[in-house]
Formats: sequence, C-alpha cells, structure tokens
Amino acid sequence: MKYAPVRKAVFPVAGLGTRFLPATKSIPKEMLPIVDKPLIQYAVEEAVEAGIETLVFVVNHKKMAILEHFDEDADLQSHLLVQGKHDLHAQIRDIIPSSVSTAHVIQEEALGLGHAVWCAKSLVGDEPFAVLLADDLIRSPATGCLKQMVDAYRATGVGSIGVEKIPAAMTDRYGIVSVQADAKGRDYIHAIVEKPAPDVAPSRLGVVGRYILPGEIFGLLESVRAGVGGEIQLTDAIAALLENEQLLAHAFEGIRYDCGSRQGFIRATVDYALGHDDLRDSLLEYFATLV
Ligand code: UTP
Repeated sequence: MKYAPVRKAVFPVAGLGTRFLPATKSIPKEMLPIVDKPLIQYAVEEAVEAGIETLVFVVNHKKMAILEHFDEDADLQSHLLVQGKHDLHAQIRDIIPSSVSTAHVIQEEALGLGHAVWCAKSLVGDEPFAVLLADDLIRSPATGCLKQMVDAYRATGVGSIGVEKIPAAMTDRYGIVSVQADAKGRDYIHAIVEKPAPDVAPSRLGVVGRYILPGEIFGLLESVRAGVGGEIQLTDAIAALLENEQLLAHAFEGIRYDCGSRQGFIRATVDYALGHDDLRDSLLEYFATLV
C-alpha cells in the first residue's frame, strides 16, 4: 500500500435494515437515535475526530433523510436563536465542521456491502480511505476507534480492519480473520472469510464495521461475484487484496454495540443514557425499581 494520508471516509448506508423492521420501513436504520443523536452522527463524529476531510455517503432513494440531517438548516437555526436556545443552536450549526465536506452517491439496488463501497469509487479515487458502518457503534474510553486505526496506519503505512473476539457460536454472523503476529506484536491478517460456520471458522476474531483500505480494493470489487447471501461481499474483495497487500487486524479499545440488532441497540441506549449527567441518577433510580 503506497502511503498517502487517509482523507476520505465512506459511509455505506443503503442497506434495507430488515432486522429492524417495521421501524426501518420509512426511517433509515442509521437515523435511529441513541438517546438524542442518530447513529450516523456518532459515526461521522468518529470520522471527523480521526481527521477525515470528506464524508462520502452511499445512500438509496429512500434514505435521503441521512443527507438532510447534515444539511444546513437556516430556519431552524434562526428559530433556536430567537428562542435563546444557544446550546442547541451551536449543536445544529456545528453538526459538521466547516472544514469537512460531504458528497454522496446512490446505490440503486442493495446488492451488498461490497457493491455499496464500490459505488463510491469515483468519489474516492485511488487513495487509501476509511469505511465506517454506522450500525456498529463504538464507544471508546479516550480515542475513537477510527483515530486509533489512522494512528496505526501513520505508524506502519499498512491499512487495517477493526476486529473483536466474538463467541464461538456466532462466527456465522461475521467476517472472520485469522492473523499472524510480527515481532512487535502487530497482528497481520492472514486470511478472511465471510460468515463461516463455527466448526470451520479459522478463529474467533470477528470483523467490525471499521476499515482502512487502499484504493486497489475498487478494482477487486469489480471482479468479485455474489457470495454469501447472494450479496457482493467486501470480505471477498479483501481476501483477494491479501494476495498482494498487507492488512492489520485492529483490536480496538472500546465497546462495540451492534445497533443493527435490537439487543445491541437497547444496550447502547442504556449505556449512552447513563453517560449523560442529566439522565443518569433518575435512570438508576428507575432501574432499581425494576430489579
Ligand atoms: P447490514 O449487513 O447490517 O445490512 O449492512 P442491512 O441491510 O443494513 O440490515 P439487515 O441485515 O437487513 O437488518 C451493513 C452496512 O452496510 C450497508 C448498510 O446500510 C449498513 O450500514 N449496506 C448493506 C449498503 O449500504 N448496501 C447494501 O447493499 C448492503
């Protein structure tokens, strides 16, 4: 991978969100709020913290609300000012810093994550870029997950994929990597396979929705055929990439919530709510009445 800074991040948000129906029939999954912020905003904030300069959204025609969320809303801003709601005004105004630009592309049909990433090809070019899946919400103690990965990329010049150890019985829900550690303890990805059954999974290291990939991935996505679930899988293109490129497995610091599932979404809601000073005490009192 030829070193160049990671300036662009791709947000594939054109999936159907079937696990969250009927909520996601007309509301994009990525617009579901955890406390008071939609999932996509958490992912965008993580990307901005990592120094990303251009946010590329891969949307479909029914998910334009995601783009609207990041558009300037002058009426709302002046209304909040008139009402003296200065904190809210600042939050709405600064939803994306002025130094960061946005772009979008339409994925006409939900053909899979790999296809969604490929749709961003002309907006990304051939430079290394990040991919963030907003339904994997990652809460890190100090440094956000993508910034951890960008820092590692700066140090090594090698791209990476976010991973975490998952229960053995759940390998068939994840991309799974096997790794080989170098002398410095860095885990280089040796192989990657999409949703293997537990008895054939090469490890318990599950891929989570954070990637730093070289521009070469686009050429490989072009020749990948539909794989598991009849979808064009990003995993299959990454497997082909590994024949010529190195990639690191990044075991991030933090907690990941699978907000594409009800279980993960509810856990995230509870944990994030408890992190809000104005909600914490009354919620704890309420929980005590339940147990
Ligand atoms: P998921 O595997 O969670 O699929 O996609 P999904 O369609 O969103 O949800 P379920 O499984 O039906 O409930 C992971 C990410 O990839 C995007 C999704 O929007 C999500 O952010 N994606 C997936 C696309 O953008 N296009 C696709 O064709 C598939």
